[in-house]
Amino acid sequence: MSIKLNTHYLEPFIRSHEYERISPEIRMADEMLRKKTGPGSDFLGWVDLPENYDKEEFARILKSAEKIRKTCDVFVVIGIGGSYLGARAVIEYLKSPNYNLLVKNAPQIYFTGNCISADALNDVIALCEGKDVCVNVISKSGTTTEPAVAFRVFRELLEKKYGKDGAKDRIFVTTDRARGTLKQFSTEAGYETFVVPDNVGGRFSVLSAVGLLPIAVAGIDIRKLMEGAASASRAYTSRNLEENDCYRYAAIRNLLYRKGKTVEILANYEPFGAMFNEWWKQLYGESEGKDGKGLYPASVIFSTDLHSLGQFIQDGNRIVFETVIDIADTKQRFAIPNDPANIDGLNFLSGKQLDDVKKTAMLGTILAHTDGGVPNMVLEVSERSEYVLGELIYFFELACAISGYILSVNPFDQPGVESYKKNMFALLGKPGYESMREELTKRLNFS
Ligand code: PA5
Repeated sequence: MSIKLNTHYLEPFIRSHEYERISPEIRMADEMLRKKTGPGSDFLGWVDLPENYDKEEFARILKSAEKIRKTCDVFVVIGIGGSYLGARAVIEYLKSPNYNLLVKNAPQIYFTGNCISADALNDVIALCEGKDVCVNVISKSGTTTEPAVAFRVFRELLEKKYGKDGAKDRIFVTTDRARGTLKQFSTEAGYETFVVPDNVGGRFSVLSAVGLLPIAVAGIDIRKLMEGAASASRAYTSRNLEENDCYRYAAIRNLLYRKGKTVEILANYEPFGAMFNEWWKQLYGESEGKDGKGLYPASVIFSTDLHSLGQFIQDGNRIVFETVIDIADTKQRFAIPNDPANIDGLNFLSGKQLDDVKKTAMLGTILAHTDGGVPNMVLEVSERSEYVLGELIYFFELACAISGYILSVNPFDQPGVESYKKNMFALLGKPGYESMREELTKRLNFS
């Protein structure tokens, strides 16, 4: 595997017999997952998705991506939560957070429908002005408010610009296979449609059409991404913690949680990992945060955040532990220039690679945080590539399921997400919510 879990720095925090003690729970969680006997077992389609995916659809994704790359300047991706975070994370991780400024001979990609903001929506509309536009709306349910509103807007925009027939060739819909109004509407309108598999929840869907179409439009090799994930799915099968880094990560999170370390910080030393952090936060937050339980998933980009959150991590409330992502080969190099005047006194660094300085900053930070009572483990990732990112995605998905089962929650539902929606619909006057509206209005003290 191109990923290795380094637990050396955890020695002051976890004793070896503790791994032995949690091993039966790991074995039980693995059994629940593999035999599909645990809660949420209807949503385990992601487990063998990297090998057992729809090859005909995969070919259509590649074909549509090629068409989109040729026919538009701007590709608008509409979706929220699991219906956009994965695609955006992979594009920024493998290309750049500045992808849209750097891209040549391929469309810029803008994500919208992931918030309720007139300013954000107007920005994307303005970015489309005078450009050829294609749209991919992604919604499993087809009824989520944020993407549905954005789709209304962009459908109208495309129909005005290209006519109904022209728009038809520029709208790509990723939704439920059969159910739902979006599927029915798309079939009637003649849009190209892709499937969010029934047994794959939003936050586990990046390796389905949900993530793969936008990722392919960015010119990323989705075959390699799938191959990497497939190799991880074959690698992480042992129930022995010494042989399975993925399960060891799940075990460590739970051991630390039981010691009061209730916040896990994913620390990435590369700004291109910022959206990957966001994807990871949804995966773990929505999977584990229920029944009054769960580790709160937080994230940082170092060294940037050492100058903002560093103080808290070093010295604040001792409830945190860190999982550090250390990518050995990020592809690009930069040597620090010499300054004959040595104004900043940094000439001892002249000629040194930024990567070496970053690595030293990382090691120094791990030691400092460990001294400050913050357990640190390091995920050593060999390189920044499609294949290895595929492995990393699968590593975190599988660990999340195992960890959730150890926590005794259903890692595959998200009942809490409904609460705000119900209140919002009631307050907005959605038919059927009349009595709830009355009750909530009283609580808000307006009429
Ligand atoms: O992970 C999840 O299930 C959620 O984040 C959903 O993806 C999100 O709420 C969007 O739902 P939908 O795809 O039905 O519009």
